[in-house]
Amino acid sequence: MRILLLNGPNLATLGRRQPELYGSQTLAQIVDAARAHAEERGASLDHLQSNHEGALIDRLEVLDYDAVVINAGALSHTSYALLDALVACERPVVEVHISDVLAREEWRHTSVLQPAVRHQVVGRGWKGYLEAIDLLLD
Ligand code: DQA
Repeated sequence: MRILLLNGPNLATLGRRQPELYGSQTLAQIVDAARAHAEERGASLDHLQSNHEGALIDRLEVLDYDAVVINAGALSHTSYALLDALVACERPVVEVHISDVLAREEWRHTSVLQPAVRHQVVGRGWKGYLEAIDLLLD
């Protein structure tokens, strides 16, 4: 299985961004661990981080993957354009949030991506990305 891992706005600064919420792992470390985990399980992983909604949508339009793991950051709470792109790709999607969004501000409680999402992994720290991969592969 070819997994596309997408990370949205402000996730490039993981490691130094509010470590009390998001942990001290850098995005590069997380992607390395996610790729190793996918490969151990016989899958491949391609990754894109972008702060730009359109770049994430452009990547989704290139249908060279079988499934998607996405942490869209704050776009999760606002972006109907990203929802449309996830629906249009017709692939299984698992949504990840590193922090426990349900225990934070109310505006973070809703993900507008939900209609396109098969599973959500919330508040499990960076290991949530590994759980998301397992949900796709199990
Ligand atoms: C996040 C939660 C979002 O509310 C926030 O805007 C992020 C990160 C998370 O991984 O916990 O950027 O998606």
